[in-house]
Amino acid sequence: MLLTTTAAAALMLLQQAPAESTDWDAEFGVEVKERDAVTGELPVDPYTQSNANAGAKPYDGAVLAADFGGREGIARIAARTVDLSEADPRIADIFAANDMVRLKRTLGEQFCYLLGAGCEYTGRDMKTAHAEMGVTKADLNALVENLQIAMREAGVPFAAQNRLLSKLAPASKDIIER
Ligand code: HEM
Repeated sequence: MLLTTTAAAALMLLQQAPAESTDWDAEFGVEVKERDAVTGELPVDPYTQSNANAGAKPYDGAVLAADFGGREGIARIAARTVDLSEADPRIADIFAANDMVRLKRTLGEQFCYLLGAGCEYTGRDMKTAHAEMGVTKADLNALVENLQIAMREAGVPFAAQNRLLSKLAPASKDIIER
């Protein structure tokens, strides 16, 4: 009799157990994003591409871009800034939650566009890109410090460093949330 009761209880439990094929992400409304097979980037919500999204007008002429080592140098500086920020305990959490593959590309495009090195900026505007990230003034200072380290390491002259920073500074108002 005891065996029968136990067996019946086990059977009931088994019947309640979910099918192994249940898609729990769908059940809980979790959106699963997959990286693009070619670019390795995660998809973002649709937006209108425009150089205006870079947040400032570009410099004119090739001299400044040359100070940054041209397009390749600029891309390296952007990627290094992202790497330093990802490893920076002050702001690492914000970066860890996002797509660094895309950020390296779009940040590089933004710098390249603003420095007049002939790139198109294909990323989002600064307000949209940083929405609900809760970035503080201290976070911004940390990121700027990392960019300065990356530029110094790359041997960018101090005056040229400041010219890039002066193009980025106005974006602060769209990035800082608290
Ligand atoms: C003047 C300062 C800054 C500039 C010029 C800047 C620039 C950018 C650019 C160009 C993007 C890419 C947008 C896109 O791919 O569509 C981006 C995204 C991002 N930024 Fe910034 N940023 C600044 C400050 C900061 C700060 C202070 C933080 C955090 C400490 C931060 C964290 C991020 C993160 C995590 C993303 C990725 C967002 C995503 O993938 O959804 N940024 N930023």
